[in-house]
Amino acid sequence: MEPREMILVLGANGQIGTELVTALRAKYGATSVIASDIRQARDNSNGPFELLDIMNPVAVNEAFAKHKVTQVYHLAAILSATGEQNPRLAWQVNMDGLLNVLEASVQFGVKKVFWPSSIAVFGNHSKKRLTPQYAVTDPDTIYGISKLAGERWCNYYYRTRGLDVRSLRYPGLISYGSKPGGGTTDYAVEIFYEAKAHGQYTCFLREDQRLPMMYMPDAIKATLALMEADGDKLRIRSSYNVSSLSFTPAELANAIKVQLPLFAVNYAPDFRQVIAETWPGSIDDNYARLDWGWEPDYDLQAMVADMLVHIPN
Ligand code: NAD
Ligand code: SER
Repeated sequence: MEPREMILVLGANGQIGTELVTALRAKYGATSVIASDIRQARDNSNGPFELLDIMNPVAVNEAFAKHKVTQVYHLAAILSATGEQNPRLAWQVNMDGLLNVLEASVQFGVKKVFWPSSIAVFGNHSKKRLTPQYAVTDPDTIYGISKLAGERWCNYYYRTRGLDVRSLRYPGLISYGSKPGGGTTDYAVEIFYEAKAHGQYTCFLREDQRLPMMYMPDAIKATLALMEADGDKLRIRSSYNVSSLSFTPAELANAIKVQLPLFAVNYAPDFRQVIAETWPGSIDDNYARLDWGWEPDYDLQAMVADMLVHIPN
């Protein structure tokens, strides 16, 4: 009989972790999935939870040993907008934290590691439309710099230590399960709450700022599909481009107005506009489609309809 999987999720209380833990528990059973974060969960009654700072290598090693961890989903990070407020902290959490996790994974014989990268690895000189897998990567933000370096570390651990690391360059993620944690794409979540609560939203990006986006159910589907894929078929061990939606704030607002005709949006771009301008508008994810059969389920209309159903008035 195959030994039981023991799955550790680091940064489990964030926007992705909240929903990924639920999906993993549905698949593997509640007690096989240990949620962990530097902050306490609002509700940790659904399964095991550990308070854990990924910056503390001793504590990370202890958690790996204690739970006999076989798979890791390492989500703990400082995102793009927050990272620009404290670049040194962002570098330390995103880089030292990743190295602590990769090192522990090798030391404790972990079978598979998932770590997300981002469209933030691209920069001003990357192709803006249908940005290919192997585009110029010249990120301006400390977040993007740390993600690009992280991708190379993941590839390095795969090549030199045989660690089965898998990664996606997520676009901006839209969800109602948990609020986003300080990114440039957060407007695409805030807009729904403000539309429902006040019928009005002031957007911090320009109305024509096109960005690649994805609805959370598709992000969870992509993550699980990549982790279940045949490792021999994965040609990319840095991070896969993965794509679904591409829209501007004005296009998103118009899609919401179809259902809430009185909804009004103003635009007051701030420092996050400068970040967004360096990122692609859409992504070519051919490698993901060919290597592990990636295909999203949600288009813009379906995502908007589902968000509006789930966000309270
Ligand atoms: P989030 O900010 O919502 O959650 C991150 C979690 O990490 C938080 O719960 C936070 O408390 C925790 N954390 C921070 N520092 C920690 C530390 N030192 N030790 C332990 N936990 C710590 O972020 P998210 O949106 O859930 O993103 C998860 C991952 O996905 C990150 O690597 C992020 O860069 C990546 N990603 C997210 C998006 C997106 O749109 N949400 C897009 C691309 C990539
Ligand atoms: N959504 C993320 C951010 O804006 C992209 O990685 O930071």
